Amino acid sequence: SQGTKALFIIFGATGDLAHRKLYPAIYKLYKKGFLGESFAVIGTARREWSDDYYQDVVMDSISDLTESQEHAGTFASHFRYQSHNVNDTEHYHTLKDLADKLDEEYDIDGNRIFYLSMSPSFFGTITSHLREQNLVTENGFNRVIIEKPFGSDFNSSKELNDEINASFDEDQLYRIDHYLGKEMVQNILALRFSNSLIENSWNKDSISNFQITLSEDLGVEERGEYYDKSGALRDMVQNHVLQMVSLLTMNSPKAFTTEEVRKEKMAILNALKDPVVTQDEDTEFVRGQYDTSIDGETKGYRDEDKVDPESLTETFVAGKIIIETDEWRDTPVYIRTGKRLAEKTSRVDVVFKPSQTALFDDKPTVLSILVSPNEGFELLLNNKKIGPGMELESVRLSAVRSEETVEESPEAYEKLILDVLNGDETHFAHWQEVATSWKYVDQIREKWDSFTDSIPFYPALTMGPDEADTLLQNDGNNWIYKA
Ligand code: BG6
Repeated sequence: SQGTKALFIIFGATGDLAHRKLYPAIYKLYKKGFLGESFAVIGTARREWSDDYYQDVVMDSISDLTESQEHAGTFASHFRYQSHNVNDTEHYHTLKDLADKLDEEYDIDGNRIFYLSMSPSFFGTITSHLREQNLVTENGFNRVIIEKPFGSDFNSSKELNDEINASFDEDQLYRIDHYLGKEMVQNILALRFSNSLIENSWNKDSISNFQITLSEDLGVEERGEYYDKSGALRDMVQNHVLQMVSLLTMNSPKAFTTEEVRKEKMAILNALKDPVVTQDEDTEFVRGQYDTSIDGETKGYRDEDKVDPESLTETFVAGKIIIETDEWRDTPVYIRTGKRLAEKTSRVDVVFKPSQTALFDDKPTVLSILVSPNEGFELLLNNKKIGPGMELESVRLSAVRSEETVEESPEAYEKLILDVLNGDETHFAHWQEVATSWKYVDQIREKWDSFTDSIPFYPALTMGPDEADTLLQNDGNNWIYKA
């Protein structure tokens, strides 16, 4: 096959994301033939770079993936650079000329993908200029990929969305939530709706609670400036966590189409109960901030670069999410996420109820969906201990993918960019999803912002403050995953 024809215009081409994720992803699509020779990339950013320099940067970013220098060189020759001030109308004329020229040179038929990987404060300006200075073509598709953060609360995200909608329709917009591109997040629906054993027990009678853990061992690194204004709630819960909640609890879509999947996800997001946020034990959401580690080797959040030394920003959130549908009202979804926790792990533990018979002293059955770094499923069951009597012990059925398999499977960005080439929006966040999620987290944010006296601390490299454990213990539950 010749692959899809496309011209990418990347805003933010000198950035870290472009280097770490986008160029490697585009290269893999090229290597696998999803992109043929009819593609080109224009990288833009403020900095003055030459085409040669840009192509070297691209070569460098794919150096681990290439078979030969020559192949990498051919790939990189499709890249051009243009220094660009997003507020300067003149620059869009130059950009249009270059785009039209490459369109012809590479026989692209007018297909364009505009990749916005910059501060969201520029999204509105960029999209309106793209429209007004005629970078949008008549003969091909025009798709816009939008990186997070999509606003910082409901109001700002609505404003942003209105600005973008003035120039592009919802069905041209691809809002990235990279968790939706992860193999094991996509696998949630496959697991749930292709195994009747699981399908038939995915209900309130069988499931006691869900537990989502997205923990990181890294701190804020160089992102102190962004993170101190954001915090874990905005950074992880509004997007990745709530997307996973909806995938875990949504009803079966009528068909596996974007529209049906989105409809069922929205039914969950619309049913989220307003969270209780207090400073006592009734609270359904707790936060924390990392302090110096117990061994004194890892510094606390307030000592990080570009972080306010008196910051009250949360680097950890744990919560109990209640879905007010007949099915899930009594089945809490516990979530936790944070920086400088004991381990880097993204996983879901589905905790089943004990057996209805009282024959044995059984432990709950647990199905774990391992998202990363390990990928696969684990099922913890009870079985009889070998020997006399009927004593039980746990046994773990494990389908964890080998490191090699994980290494070889396509990364989230590769899959998501391919979806954009194919015009498939299933694994992107619709505006309604984004809006509803913001409204949910805004309520928590508002309460926290009014408790300005203190924040619970946790030592760096532990699993968060004690409050996160109490949250479950109050319901007679416990976190299954302990680092
Ligand atoms: C991003 C957050 O959306 O997700 C980061 O902004 C976080 O703060 C990252 O580190 C985690 O993603 P992953 O794929 O490493 O689990």
